[in-house]
Amino acid sequence: MMLAGKRGFTARSCGEFTDHANLAATARGKSAMELDDELCLCFHVTRRKVENYIRIERPRRVGQLAECYGAGSGCGWCRPFLQRLFDRAQQPPAAETPDDLPSAAEYAHSRSDYVRAGGGTPPPGATPIEP
Ligand code: FES
Repeated sequence: MMLAGKRGFTARSCGEFTDHANLAATARGKSAMELDDELCLCFHVTRRKVENYIRIERPRRVGQLAECYGAGSGCGWCRPFLQRLFDRAQQPPAAETPDDLPSAAEYAHSRSDYVRAGGGTPPPGATPIEP
């Protein structure tokens, strides 16, 4: 069975993903961004899509993540977070570092501050900034 997407992600490939990040965050008493939360709020790209893209397509440069539904090619807010996920994926499995992505609410709030401060301009149709 194919899931939505032009890259041919399969239900099996998504199901194989183990979310060590959220387990680590839970152990610290914080809730990290969930897999189905939007990591790129400009193009509605979830953390799951990005992590699966990295795992399956194995991009050689972080900039190639823009091929994952445009992630990072809008206001620019998510680029440091894309970099974190990219860097983490370059580590051997035993050396995986704990997740330090904020919760979705913290993330969206900080992006709103970033956009209001002139950090970047979201494209039409992006998740709106908070009032
Ligand atoms: S949140 Fe990803 S480019 Fe704006």
